[in-house]
Amino acid sequence: MTRRPLVAGNWKMNGLRASVVELEAMIAAYDSHLQARAELLICPPATLLASFPAVAAGSGLAIGAQDCHPAPCGAHTGDISAEMIADAGAGFVILGHSERRADHGETDSLVRLKAEAARRAGLVAIVCVGESEAERDAGRALEIVVGQLAGSIPDGATGADLVVAYEPIWAIGTGRTPSEADIVEMHGAMRAALRERFGAEAEGIRLLYGGSVKPENAGTILKLEDVDGALVGGASLKAASFIAIARAYL
Ligand code: 13P
Repeated sequence: MTRRPLVAGNWKMNGLRASVVELEAMIAAYDSHLQARAELLICPPATLLASFPAVAAGSGLAIGAQDCHPAPCGAHTGDISAEMIADAGAGFVILGHSERRADHGETDSLVRLKAEAARRAGLVAIVCVGESEAERDAGRALEIVVGQLAGSIPDGATGADLVVAYEPIWAIGTGRTPSEADIVEMHGAMRAALRERFGAEAEGIRLLYGGSVKPENAGTILKLEDVDGALVGGASLKAASFIAIARAYL
């Protein structure tokens, strides 16, 4: 089974309407050679979800959201449903990012409900997992991440509706990354857990690495076994660095 690499940008709470120039520069650089090697995705803040899908239409670059509510509609002030995201023209939604788990107390079971909502709406869910520094220091990283996977992913997930992103919390925005051996070990453990639960379907589920991915380390990280792409924060805000990361696949 070949998995198409996915280089995804998470803009977090960054970007104004003027940031469309970065999206346009990314689209201009996403030529047929790069399109043949990797899928590109940008997840802007919700305010830009209304305009970015039209800008990216026909370019091959996908647009996604950063969160959704489990319900399709209703009295949930400030929230956005998976159906609304699909209606805006987006195809993906990031779920269970460690910043949402920390800032909004999101639990594995809530993330799972959101992933079910994403599938209901026809979106691909990018479910994020990752250990804290204290958990890694205590030798519990594998146990924590495999446990988060078990709790956050819905039954019946397939490579067509699920992507998993391993983002060690201590590597996000710090410039630090795990060793190559630690990334390979973690991605291997995640693949094994997915195989145990989903059988052959697990081979189609892409496993992204996230946490301080930069043009300088992308060439190394993206070649590692069972690393099927990256979830990029800071370096995805500018076309030059985001495209430089994706070009690791050329
Ligand atoms: P950085 O690439 O800025 O470390 O962020 C990673 C991340 O959290 C992406 O979701």
